Amino acid sequence: MKPSFVDLFLKYGVHTDKETIHHYGFWYDRWLGDHENMSRILELGCDCFGCGGLLAFSEYFPNAAVVGLDIHYHKIADEARQNNRISLVTGNVYQYETTTMIRNQFPAPFQLIVDDCLHDPEDQLKAFRLWSPLLATDGLYLIEDIYDLSQLSQILSLWTLDWDITLGDSRELFSGTYKESLMLCLRRRCPEQSPV
Ligand SMILES: C[S@@+](CC[C@H](N)C(=O)[O-])C[C@H]1O[C@@H](n2cnc3c(N)ncnc32)[C@H](O)[C@@H]1O
Repeated sequence: MKPSFVDLFLKYGVHTDKETIHHYGFWYDRWLGDHENMSRILELGCDCFGCGGLLAFSEYFPNAAVVGLDIHYHKIADEARQNNRISLVTGNVYQYETTTMIRNQFPAPFQLIVDDCLHDPEDQLKAFRLWSPLLATDGLYLIEDIYDLSQLSQILSLWTLDWDITLGDSRELFSGTYKESLMLCLRRRCPEQSPV
């Protein structure tokens, strides 16, 4: 049986905080569980613990090309380095030139983009504006670690009129409240679903 994201984030738990510090696996399973054939994935901010998120994506989607983007790599797990479906790119997520570099290297649109880089709402908006154009029409854009949902909603609102947004709230999985347990899933609305 195919492992769940919860299983995979725990399996690679030394190299990612997605199910150790956070509990995001439940939401990944809910949002990506019926996507059998995701083939191009980009994670913004992927190192920190050793690129375990990339390893989990690559194992869950065995045909996917998985691209990680980080400003520097200090902790890359050997498995990530040796995985020929994982590409590790060095660059600043918040510079337009980096989007051009990625487009040149990987011309086809991504079906999944995960922002796990800086968690300030202004940075999350900046990343969304820069990187969402690289998303396939039916792709998903996930933002992890929402510190201030009302502030982020306010600043995102103008830019996401054509997007359906779902909140993943893992606070109840913690014994106390933990501010970094919210994530968002954004999906571009099909034209026929747009309000008239
Ligand atoms: C929360 S960690 C990523 C955790 C990883 N995604 C995981 O699943 O364990 C954030 C990462 O963003 C990177 N980062 C910070 N500022 C950046 C920038 N301006 N451009 C690219 N990467 C950046 C850091 O180097 C760090 O590796």
